[in-house]
Parts: sequence; structure tokens; C-alpha cells
Amino acid sequence: MARIAAAIRGGRVVEESAFDRFLPPDLRRVSEDYWTPLPVVRRVAAWLRAERVETLVDIGSGAGKLCVMTALLTRCRIVGLEVRPSLVAAAQALAARFEVDDRVRFVAGGFGRTPTPAADAYYLFNPFGEYEFDALLDADDGVTFSDAQFAFDVDAAVRFFARAPVGTRVITYNGFGGDLPPSYEQERLDLTFRGALRLWKKRPPSTRPRTSFRVRLPEIEPPNEV
Ligand SMILES: C[S@@+](CC[C@H](N)C(=O)[O-])C[C@H]1O[C@@H](n2cnc3c(N)ncnc32)[C@H](O)[C@@H]1O
Repeated sequence: MARIAAAIRGGRVVEESAFDRFLPPDLRRVSEDYWTPLPVVRRVAAWLRAERVETLVDIGSGAGKLCVMTALLTRCRIVGLEVRPSLVAAAQALAARFEVDDRVRFVAGGFGRTPTPAADAYYLFNPFGEYEFDALLDADDGVTFSDAQFAFDVDAAVRFFARAPVGTRVITYNGFGGDLPPSYEQERLDLTFRGALRLWKKRPPSTRPRTSFRVRLPEIEPPNEV
């Protein structure tokens, strides 16, 4: 494990399977579809470093792959918010194994129902979709999904980002099911992955003075005197 962590920190390319083998088998099995792939995390980390982001919240942090890998590649302090307590436990174990638990913590709770920590940046990878793990895990977590819940979560995210301070960055991988408020401008885009990766930044309200038009009318010659 120390060898893998050192390789990631040193910028070497690590195979997906080399990282995933530190996940419990049932979470490893769904990794390709449910957790952010390592090349995407590397790009996210490069953007966070370029933007000088110090704090990040992963909304819907799952098994903790994005949080732990980003901690290895940046100096960010990271919080993962996850609705399933069993995934929070797995993510905490992963952070401890990679010895980044001094900068990465996980909160159990549903977005919009649990206070979301303030941060420079937020990451969302299909956070409000319906996810199936093994039957035992699903029963233990008592989490159920519905169209009404999905609509509630998407609306809560849009309202949360509308209230966020100017300068807030939002990184979406594939999206979150809604549109960010118009105050967010897309600053970076990478279309080389399975889903679109975008970085948005909240702009201040326009401070430009309203343009005033001065209309110059043609001078009218006085009528010739008769
Ligand atoms: C596609 S996974 C992404 C995991 C992680 N961000 C990553 O990239 O590796 C989305 C996660 O969001 C969680 N989730 C779903 N609805 C949520 C909600 N309302 N609040 C917090 N987490 C939620 C799911 O349980 C799932 O683990």
C-alpha cells in the first residue's frame, strides 16, 4: 500500500486495479461504474492545484476513492458527504490505510438534509442517482431512492450553489441532474473521458455601469430664407 501511495504522490500512473484492490470486494466490483476513475481524479487534482483550492467537498463520496486519491495528489483538506453509513465506514477505512485521514474526513448524511461544510470547491459525480450494492448493504443502510427524492436533491443543490459565495468552484463529472445558476461560468472542460468533466466558477454580479447611448442626431439645416 505504501508503494502505491508513494507512486501516486510521485505522479506515476497507477493501474485502476492496483488502487481498487484496497476496496472491499463488493465495492471493488462496482468501481468502474460508480467511482471516479483514476485518470479523471488526476485531472481534477491538476485543476484544483491550478485554481489554488484548499478545501473540497465531494457530494456523494461513495467508497472515498475521489477523496483519498485527491488527498494524495494535492494539499487539499477534503470532506466527503455520503448518504450511506456503510460507505462512510468503508471510505474512512480507505483514508486510514492511505494515511490521509488527517486531511480527509467523511460525514454520513443526505445532501440537503445534513449541513454541507463550506469549501472553496465542490465535486459532484452523478450524486443523486439510484445505486444498487449488494442486498445486505442496501438493507443495512435503509436508503431508498425515488423520483421525488431525486428532484428534491437536485433542487437543494441548485439552491445551495445559488447561495454559495462568489469564487466558489464546482467540478462536475457527467453532471448532477440539474443546471448550475447562471452566475456560474464554465472555466475548464475536458471531453476526453467517458463523461464530460467541467469546472465552473461563481462570478460576482455584474459591476459594469449600464451602457448609456448618446444619439447624435444629424443637424438640421435652417430653411433657406426666401
Ligand atoms: C457515482 S457515486 C460517486 C462517488 C464518489 N464521488 C466518487 O467519485 O468516487 C455517487 C454517490 O452518491 C451517494 N448519494 C446518493 N444520493 C445522495 C445524497 N442525497 N446525499 C449524499 N450522497 C448521496 C450514493 O450513495 C453514491 O455513493
